[in-house]
Amino acid sequence: MEREWLDNLYRLVLQQTQDGIILSDADGVIVFVNDAAERIRNIQRENILGHSMVDCHKETSREKVNRALGYLKSHEGNAVSRMVTDSVNDKYYENIYTPVFDETHTLQGVSVISRDITERRRAEESKAAIQRAQEVAHATLMEKYHSLMMTSMEMLTNLLEARDFYTNGHSKRVCEIATKLFEHRNGIDEHFLDIQWAAKLHDIGKICIPDAIVHKPGKLTSEEYETIKMHSALASDIIRPLDPGSRIWPMIRYHHERYDGKGYPDGRGGEEIPDGARVIAIADTYDAMRSCRPYRSAMSFDQCIEEIKANAGTQFDPKWVKVFLELATTGSID
Ligand SMILES: [Fe+2]
Repeated sequence: MEREWLDNLYRLVLQQTQDGIILSDADGVIVFVNDAAERIRNIQRENILGHSMVDCHKETSREKVNRALGYLKSHEGNAVSRMVTDSVNDKYYENIYTPVFDETHTLQGVSVISRDITERRRAEESKAAIQRAQEVAHATLMEKYHSLMMTSMEMLTNLLEARDFYTNGHSKRVCEIATKLFEHRNGIDEHFLDIQWAAKLHDIGKICIPDAIVHKPGKLTSEEYETIKMHSALASDIIRPLDPGSRIWPMIRYHHERYDGKGYPDGRGGEEIPDGARVIAIADTYDAMRSCRPYRSAMSFDQCIEEIKANAGTQFDPKWVKVFLELATTGSID
């Protein structure tokens, strides 16, 4: 009685469980199909009971199923899982094929458990679609932001150039020399554009300094000199909001630092100074020496070269002085 009751319970559980269950014997003949299997796989048990499990699959899937069953029979305990797309009924389900062995390791049959994963797949697809849409929106926003940033920097460059009439294209020439030095040593890498912008805008802080000081035709008093020294820190404050990656403003802030740590605004030395700022420092000094000032005439090419050479290791990074001299002797800088 107990045994009969338990067998009946097994049968009811198999029949009523939410996952589809199809059982075959050791020869692959289907002997059991529960209600959920009919529903999930859209089949009718009377059409497949007593038939070969392979033959119950679509013509195109039969070879795969046959291979899977062969694998299961020879690998005790392993299961094979297959995802099925039912395009006719617009749903997805997963079949797990498991061999059933008895205590003597003899194959008794194969169970196929089918689980409807349509909702899970829909949720995954919808999540992936949302993520794709967010990525596109983010990329568009970043593109707009980048374009706005470039426009703002271009405007600042024009503003500086307009106010730079006295030094007549100094920023442009510093940019040319600095990019030549940088390219000669590093090639055109991902920092190339950054150094171009930094060189173009290195003196943008001077727009905050009174004209009477910036354009003073004579020597500056010590108080005026202290005022003009503020331009590099002021410039970094102007550029920082346009430079979320912090790749440009540090080169601007530190372009008057010296390799021996005696520069301004923070007295940084050696490797503490961003590499790009060390490049701009040489280009800036060279162009200033080569240009006329109301209180002195332009220095000759040779005098400038000697000056740069003499300050390697004190004012300038010797590594970049070497690059500068290489370019100067080959006529790339004049
Ligand atoms: Fe400067």
